[in-house]
Amino acid sequence: METETLNNTTVAELVANDYRTAEIFKKHGIDFCCGGKKSIAKVCNEKNISPVILENEILALQNQPKDPEHNFNEWTLSFLADYILNVHHTYVNNNLNLITEFAERVARVHGEHSPETKDIAKLWEDVVLELTMHMKKEELLLFPYVKNIERYSKGELKDFPTSNFGTVKNPIRMMEHEHDLAGHLMKHIQELSNNFTPPDYACNTYRVLYAKLREFQNDLFQHIHLENNILFPKAILLEDTFTPSINSCSL
Ligand SMILES: [Fe+2]
Ligand SMILES: [Fe+2]
Repeated sequence: METETLNNTTVAELVANDYRTAEIFKKHGIDFCCGGKKSIAKVCNEKNISPVILENEILALQNQPKDPEHNFNEWTLSFLADYILNVHHTYVNNNLNLITEFAERVARVHGEHSPETKDIAKLWEDVVLELTMHMKKEELLLFPYVKNIERYSKGELKDFPTSNFGTVKNPIRMMEHEHDLAGHLMKHIQELSNNFTPPDYACNTYRVLYAKLREFQNDLFQHIHLENNILFPKAILLEDTFTPSINSCSL
């Protein structure tokens, strides 16, 4: 890729085309999910990173063979939606209670000496509330609709699927807004926890809590990336091919 082309490409586009670049962006503290719609030139400027260094790292990676099992961009929408449910929604559901228990315990025991642990427990409560409702909307409304548009496109459904939300752009706008909210809550936790670094005196529960929060954030960012940058834009494009004149009413 030419330097100029790369500079004008957005972070989201690069990760959508080659998910391995997410590791490079993560390493440089560049947001590739909620804030991924910025060009490479812009993020380098904002983060004071040399575009040449970033470009070399991306080119070196692109020259390595890809893992053929995770070409998310080439999967069908139904397969990708199922993958997101089976991998990322299941991960969230399996970890919410455990992290809540640890966050409450650490805040109770260490809150006096380390008041940020109380703030983290409160922010985590908001993450749980936000994501629980959010994932239900995707599982019950948005993803089934997207899968049905694809089934229709393959001739597996006779009629174009109906919905009570108008165009798919409406719930997608709402989901992207909720991703921003959850992403900001996790970034706030990351700041308060000094990038998930426990203090020297931290007990095992404290250490496990920070390790789990770091793991949770990594999983959430990948989850949001797959939805914001691959599933949602493709769902909008596919719907548009069948319903170019559908009205964009707001929810
Ligand atoms: Fe999701
Ligand atoms: Fe989502």
